[in-house]
Amino acid sequence: MATTPKTYHVKSYGCQMNVYDGERMGELMAQQGLTATDAESADLVVLNTCHIREKATEKVYSEIGRLRKDGRAPMVAVAGCVAQAEGEEIVRRAKVDVVVGPQAYHNLPALIAKAVTGQAALDTDMPVDSKFGALPGRRKVAPSAFLTVQEGCDKFCTYCVVPYTRGAEVSRPFAAIVDEAKALVDAGAKEITLLGQNVNAWTDADGRGLDALIRALDRIEGLARIRYTTSHPNDMTQGLIDAHADVEKLMPYLHLPVQAGNDRVLKAMNRSHNRDSYLRILDRVRTVRPDIALSGDFIVGFPGETDAEFEDTLSLVEEVGYAHCFSFKYSPRPGTPAAAMTGDFIAAEVADERLQRLQAALNRHQLAFNQATVGKRCPVLIERKGRRPGQMVGKSPWLQSVHLITDAQVGDLIEVEIESAGPNSLGGIQILQAAA
Ligand code: 5AD
Ligand code: SF4
Repeated sequence: MATTPKTYHVKSYGCQMNVYDGERMGELMAQQGLTATDAESADLVVLNTCHIREKATEKVYSEIGRLRKDGRAPMVAVAGCVAQAEGEEIVRRAKVDVVVGPQAYHNLPALIAKAVTGQAALDTDMPVDSKFGALPGRRKVAPSAFLTVQEGCDKFCTYCVVPYTRGAEVSRPFAAIVDEAKALVDAGAKEITLLGQNVNAWTDADGRGLDALIRALDRIEGLARIRYTTSHPNDMTQGLIDAHADVEKLMPYLHLPVQAGNDRVLKAMNRSHNRDSYLRILDRVRTVRPDIALSGDFIVGFPGETDAEFEDTLSLVEEVGYAHCFSFKYSPRPGTPAAAMTGDFIAAEVADERLQRLQAALNRHQLAFNQATVGKRCPVLIERKGRRPGQMVGKSPWLQSVHLITDAQVGDLIEVEIESAGPNSLGGIQILQAAA
């Protein structure tokens, strides 16, 4: 029989929603009287996992091995999307104590109590009642905080496990979100990023959309910045685009994954938009907010992708001029339709070469975007100390990291002139404003 854990450590992998879930699990453990510590000494380690690509999944098992080195035997709880997808298989393969899915982690205390009695405790239910009501309130948070407003996906892109691991699209109620946003601001947040697998599919019984939510958050005193991610092209309503024109707190940044630039590939991916309809959305956004920073996700080497079709992805990148992007090699995921297209799988060397070429193009655009901000003045939200003495690091409105020497503290919003640009960050000087 194990002993009741007194200390805990939560390690999150993958997307921002996992970061948010991990924070909420930590708050729950703290409420239960456990103390946070590092992974090497914690009595309980929660691995909040990602299942999106094979590499992410395999990390779980190597991490469990590492935790049990040197005769250590912490209680191990596997949470997140691998827990949802593999369930009992994880207990069989790695003898972990607890397996808990992304919609069930409010039950962690009961699962831990069961594990203490020596039984493996498993909960991968997707209950009708949301977990959020059962979680403790928000206490102290970083200046930039996440807030999950929507979970799940009904889009069923043929390569993707999310509809299976996170379930159908569900939106949290308007009032619960506004209350949590206020609590985050009271706890120190200056910026809130609204999260959802399809955040712009957020809706409620009154038929309101994400733009209504953004406008409600805009009225919260003390909140300086609003962001949202990840969006789907098909849910990019005119209302949301208009919010970019007239909600000052809404930052000029849009992450809108496209995945590929070729219509046949997009169809095989079941993306329900094509190259042209995607580009037209970006045009509409740029019309109301010409300085918007655009970001996207790409997959190379989708089954059957030809050289010419891949060239269409490269030409799309040139046409858009992204500020930032994420790009991945296609990874077959068990249970998805694309994983059955085995005859069309692309050789690893071909996919590697495509990824390198794509990343070179994306990096070039990212550097160009960063360089174009040199000489501009903009507000920077200070998020942490830098490596050098007196140096702080913050974020520009366009989500670039800005390094500067300043007396400003974490959480301050200061005016900065951008002086230099590298591929991944900017340098600037603080503009001291005269007192009014
Ligand atoms: N293989 C590679 N990349 C994937 N993504 C989702 N599923 C896969 C997969 N099977 C990428 C998509 C998505 C991002 C979160 O991860 O680009 O937008
Ligand atoms: Fe996955 Fe497509 Fe849903 Fe995004 S929209 S989570 S890529 S199925």
